[in-house]
Amino acid sequence: MDTTPQPKIEARGLFKRYERARHDALQDVSLRIEANAFVTFVGASGCGKSTLLRSIGGLETPTGGTLQIDGRPVHGPGPERAMVFQHYSLYPWMSVRENIKFCRRLQVHTRDRSSADVEAAAGRADALLRLMGLAHVAEAWPNQLSGGMQQRVAIARALMSRPDILLMDEPFGALDAQTREVMHDLILHVHRLEQATIAFVTHDVEEAIYLGQRVVLMAPRPGRIDTVYEVPLPARREQSMKHAPEFLALKRRILDRIRETSGMQTDLELLEQLSRTAPA
Ligand SMILES: Nc1ncnc2c1ncn2[C@@H]1O[C@H](COP(=O)(O)OP(=O)(O)O)[C@@H](O)[C@H]1O
Ligand SMILES: [Mg+2]
Repeated sequence: MDTTPQPKIEARGLFKRYERARHDALQDVSLRIEANAFVTFVGASGCGKSTLLRSIGGLETPTGGTLQIDGRPVHGPGPERAMVFQHYSLYPWMSVRENIKFCRRLQVHTRDRSSADVEAAAGRADALLRLMGLAHVAEAWPNQLSGGMQQRVAIARALMSRPDILLMDEPFGALDAQTREVMHDLILHVHRLEQATIAFVTHDVEEAIYLGQRVVLMAPRPGRIDTVYEVPLPARREQSMKHAPEFLALKRRILDRIRETSGMQTDLELLEQLSRTAPA
């Protein structure tokens, strides 16, 4: 009997080919993500990170293979999966509190909602405002906030429906380095508290190692999984671990491997050839 627990997310032999594309965006991608895991994805641009995440989110339909959540095939988006993108896309005409409370997926059933539901939603919104350090700006408009604060609102809104799975596609890509550090510790705190399963895409290897229990390295043309690294750090992360020898060694290994698989090596070789043949 198979006693391994059912994974939260399971992809088996996943393929995706966009129309008129020369390569598969995803080629034979197989992956198991356990419940409550924090898995990060890195790799050169175009290696299929967003395609994979959007497929898990039900926003993209793979052309082959199987993709299951809790053992059931994915058919489109669902309230148990929430996505956060690089651009926060808040409603500019709503206050921070209203942005968080306004959850389209919950709104669908507004007509059938009792006052108890509405009260529960308000309580959840308040809890999220506190969790994300937004209580003091609850009545502000999004455009009055810094990028980091706006992204906190977007994360709080994603958490509003109590998703099992949080899918994050370069969510901190537009933030400055200091703000990003704060957001890292915040999202780790959210992960502990909300017990969500998190799949997090980034092009920043340091971010991938600091946040992830596992780092999945993808390679382009065709988009595929190259290597999966276990992160040799304690579950409870601290900023000082970024200077630990095992952290730096893993960062080096992953960066080297990205260079080997991204085609950048060939570009460098080409450049060298050109400079050798160039007239003096
Ligand atoms: N909507 C689309 N139509 C056609 N090709 C696409 C589309 N989205 C992505 N691609 C292509 O699929 C490949 C993987 O893209 P993507 O998943 O966005 O990679 P990443 O997020 O790792 O940069 C790339 O070659 C990209 O050009
Ligand atoms: Mg992408």
